[in-house]
Amino acid sequence: MKTVLILNGPNLNLLGTREPQVYGSQTLADVQTLCDSACDANGFDLDFRQSNHEGELVEWIHEAGRMQTAGTLAGVILNAGAYTHTSAALHDAIKGTGVKLIELHISNVFAREAFRHHSYISPVAKAVMCGFGVNGYALAIAAMAAMQDQP
Ligand code: DQA
Repeated sequence: MKTVLILNGPNLNLLGTREPQVYGSQTLADVQTLCDSACDANGFDLDFRQSNHEGELVEWIHEAGRMQTAGTLAGVILNAGAYTHTSAALHDAIKGTGVKLIELHISNVFAREAFRHHSYISPVAKAVMCGFGVNGYALAIAAMAAMQDQP
């Protein structure tokens, strides 16, 4: 069974209490439970992580690249939080490893402040999803299953 690696960036550990009008009231642990069910339903193992540190996220992308080479990775679902809008390092890591990656945001970033309209991740992502609330994680896992036969 292949693994879906779900990476969450800065401040996503605050889900549940952080701006609930934007991100909802479910915690990151609730999101992990939701992802567990979605992975079960789609025949994936789940590896679910969160970090507030850019370098740690870069290293996890490198690890994903090694898993992809070994044939054990279905793909990465990345909610890079605010690093989406700032991180050339994450862009380079995704490009350099060639990992199959879906960029995900809980909120509709295009309906928010202008600084959230630019993403360093989108040009190197296979697909981009935003605005579905935390249920977007389950939708992204189903989408990852649907794109398994694509290069
Ligand atoms: C976010 C959107 C980002 O702009 C923000 O910095 C986040 C969360 C989202 O899931 O909607 O931390 O990625």
